[in-house]
Amino acid sequence: MKNILSGIQPTGDLHLGNYFGAVQNWVRLQDDYRCLYCVVDYHSMTMPYKADTLRENTWKMVFYLLACGVKPEYLFLQSLVPEHVELAWVLGCVSSYGELARMTQFKDKSDQLKETDKEAFVSTGLFTYPVLQAADILIYHADYVPVGKDQEQHLELSRNIAQRFNHQFGKPYFRHPEPLYTETPKILSLADPSRKMSKSLGEKHYVNLFGEEDRIRKQIKSAVTDTGDTPAGQMSPGVANLFEILRACGQLDAHNALMTDYKSGALRYSELKETVADAVAALTSAFRERLHSLQADKKAVKTQIQDSSAVIRKRAQQTLKEVREIVGLPTLKN
Ligand code: TRP
Repeated sequence: MKNILSGIQPTGDLHLGNYFGAVQNWVRLQDDYRCLYCVVDYHSMTMPYKADTLRENTWKMVFYLLACGVKPEYLFLQSLVPEHVELAWVLGCVSSYGELARMTQFKDKSDQLKETDKEAFVSTGLFTYPVLQAADILIYHADYVPVGKDQEQHLELSRNIAQRFNHQFGKPYFRHPEPLYTETPKILSLADPSRKMSKSLGEKHYVNLFGEEDRIRKQIKSAVTDTGDTPAGQMSPGVANLFEILRACGQLDAHNALMTDYKSGALRYSELKETVADAVAALTSAFRERLHSLQADKKAVKTQIQDSSAVIRKRAQQTLKEVREIVGLPTLKN
């Protein structure tokens, strides 16, 4: 069985775009692969943050992922396996400054910081972020990494690092991880369908998967449909987005019936919105229910994930033992 690894930052809320773009796919892959999914809390330290918020959001993400159907034995916290950081140090020594400086995510995020404050603090952690990501992947000898296209450059770097390590130490030790791009629905902001649904745009732009049903319905009902600048004969992005959400929710019959109405000019947007709201409400109510039952015994859930992290850590420790030997570090006393 092939190994899969992916990671998600504990950003707070999980929205419809995250679910259809990543989490749903993670859940499906669990049937066919040996999967590992981590909440990458170390990575969340690379941008300005508060300690309490990080701790809170990390566990929040764990609960959300479990509620969406991620198997607890596949889920762990990155920082409960500190070997990731040790491997990142080793890999940092086979990565060049130049290749890291070419990473567009680093440029985007540091520009973003400087937008609000020209003198903004840009951490070295933000710069070496992709090396830690390579360590996340290589430490478990992952074959495939399900990610979005925005992570293409980081995955390529992970492969280059693996290759350079193997070459430098004359041993085919690390596998070359391949990105796994599954066709996933691209969900746009309901308030501004010219942009991707994203938390950073602000609250009205994203549908929180675990939000109140009333609010979800209201957001969908007030979704922007026609803005008047769509060329005649073309579907506006806002309307296309609603259709996309309906399809992503698995409501193909309703989708096709409404599409027929659209094509004949008989579609009322209020009806489309009502149907989409029902579909999203049905999907999310199942998640909310599972979240509630998980929250009934938070301590048990946390213990379960600490335990799974400890089991997974054993694999990481084995890798580090081998790596230390390969690169010329002394054996640890145990
Ligand atoms: N950088 C990824 C993102 O922003 C998150 C991530 C961290 C990751 N480590 C990973 C993804 C390892 C895949 C594999 O989405």
